[in-house]
Amino acid sequence: MQIEGERFLVTGGAGFLGRHLVPALQRRGASVVVLDRDADRLKTVGASSSGAPVTTVRADLRSDGLGPALRGCSAVFHLAANPDVRQGEQRTREVFEDNVLATARLLDAIQDAGITRFAFPSTSTVYGEATIVPTPEDYSPLAPTSVYGSTKVAGEGLIHGFASRHPLTAIILRLANVVGGGATHGVVYDLVRKLSDDARELEILGRDPGTRKSYVHVDDVVEGWMHAWSSVKEGVETFNVGSEDAITVRELADQVCTAVGAHNVTYRWTGGVDGGGWKGDVKTMALAIDRLKARGWRPRHGSAQSVLLAAKSLASGGAK
Ligand SMILES: NC(=O)c1ccc[n+]([C@@H]2O[C@H](COP(=O)([O-])OP(=O)(O)OC[C@H]3O[C@@H](n4cnc5c(N)ncnc54)[C@H](O)[C@@H]3O)[C@@H](O)[C@H]2O)c1
Repeated sequence: MQIEGERFLVTGGAGFLGRHLVPALQRRGASVVVLDRDADRLKTVGASSSGAPVTTVRADLRSDGLGPALRGCSAVFHLAANPDVRQGEQRTREVFEDNVLATARLLDAIQDAGITRFAFPSTSTVYGEATIVPTPEDYSPLAPTSVYGSTKVAGEGLIHGFASRHPLTAIILRLANVVGGGATHGVVYDLVRKLSDDARELEILGRDPGTRKSYVHVDDVVEGWMHAWSSVKEGVETFNVGSEDAITVRELADQVCTAVGAHNVTYRWTGGVDGGGWKGDVKTMALAIDRLKARGWRPRHGSAQSVLLAAKSLASGGAK
């Protein structure tokens, strides 16, 4: 699928991932409409480094008419979601509406608008506690251990179902934990925030040394996304996007402390739930990324380096 000359609607484009993807599209010669329901975030969606203006639309995918935002667009990147796995456990209905109802409404609207190209960020949590790690895309059964993960399985299912009755070419990207500047949530974000409040003692959810997971830098995700998009010609294809290793939460915390210049920090582990940081937390996660590597993409950073770069950027308030 092409990028240059296309007009993309990026839902949730004022969020963390969107702020990195939108300039990447513009640099490749696309024009972009950002749809988001968060008025404050939308205000700060500015011109990209290429100077091309971004059109912004404030709308809620759960309830608003989507026809006007889609007018003139030729493709959709559907990023809008409630992405916080931990909070999702307490807010089932909200997460269902943001992640499933919104996706179904959007798919109906793109059919009405005659749009046939679509991208959807799914998640490593669709695999649940997989017995094969690194986990390949054709692993089954998809048995997520969180409400968030189950809503992403539902989103993937909707895309496949929709594609069987409407000509749709789509990529589904199952992302590892994405880290980078401008993050709005997640463990690196949490630890940087806690250390800025108290650089002597750090509360960490779970039991030492914590879960072991793959972290991928947002720049690698953007490159992987562009590779996947450009390489798919028809049908619905699924790609894992992650780094090639995994680290424990203790190793992650060490990187965050180094990044913010905090020394001799005492870690205070909360004990966690069922071996994870919280109920529904996956304990071991790494993704087999051979499918996307075969299309010419390679992550430039490992997990520890990704976390280090992200924490430095978050601590300095940067967006990179
Ligand atoms: N960040 C990660 O580690 C990660 C990992 C796997 C998958 N993903 C997926 O990538 C996508 C982007 O994640 P992110 O980290 O940028 O999240 P984010 O919260 O920073 O951005 C999401 C944006 O979507 C908007 N939004 C949510 N519901 C909406 C609705 N109903 N209508 C309009 N706007 C709505 C929010 O206002 C927000 O600006 C999500 O689908 C998420 O599930 C993220």
